Amino acid sequence: MKLLILPDAAAAAARVVDEIRDLVDQKPEARLGLATGGTMEPVYEGLVKSDADLRRVTTFNLDEYVGLSPQHPQSYRSFMEARLFGPKGMSRKQTHLPNGDAPDPEAEADRYEAQIAEGGLDLQLLGIGANGHIGFNEPTSSLGSRTRVKTLTRRTRADNARFFDDEDAVPRFAITMGIATILDARHVILLATGTAKAEAVAAMVEGPLSAVCPASALQLHRRATIVVDTAAASSL
Ligand code: GLP
Repeated sequence: MKLLILPDAAAAAARVVDEIRDLVDQKPEARLGLATGGTMEPVYEGLVKSDADLRRVTTFNLDEYVGLSPQHPQSYRSFMEARLFGPKGMSRKQTHLPNGDAPDPEAEADRYEAQIAEGGLDLQLLGIGANGHIGFNEPTSSLGSRTRVKTLTRRTRADNARFFDDEDAVPRFAITMGIATILDARHVILLATGTAKAEAVAAMVEGPLSAVCPASALQLHRRATIVVDTAAASSL
């Protein structure tokens, strides 16, 4: 693991933007794994402002809520369209997320996993949940897991309730890339900012390799870069 501690959230996000820009400069047809969440907002803002040319990349997001249509304002498809795909002029054809309202979510998960495996991912971007989840791989997820349907924990639903009218409106299930799917990416960059992530960051970097902290699986990856601000590094 390479650990980069930046002075603040803006500097940490800027560092991630630089990494993505360097990759697409070298490989304009890169296959990028993307993430949602508040932590990623400054990254997408920075990419939109940058001269990074994303017209030829192919993207795969980590996860999507089950039961929300792509058009639903709280779907991760809507999040990505508003913050990155729309402003950067990226088409539906080049941007992929699991379909949250597929009639058979398990079959949709298998289809998505196969689509990722076709060319793999050059870079997977990750945030981290306060309980150490990556994507929606909640604590105790198998380290060998593949894309599948997961039940969200009460804590994750509470953490994400701020994006919905109330907690009851937060979906109970999601389709998420598995931990093994994430580990297959050729480079993984995890961004964490703020004191709310400090315990999860410490467990990921210094704790034992354990399904109790899904992000600790990144200890197994030969090219994992952890980018944090001083607040998220405060329990190290
Ligand atoms: C959700 C997403 C994760 C993200 C996490 C943290 O649960 N599925 O991919 O890392 O939220 O989000 P935030 O950055 O808003 O703290």
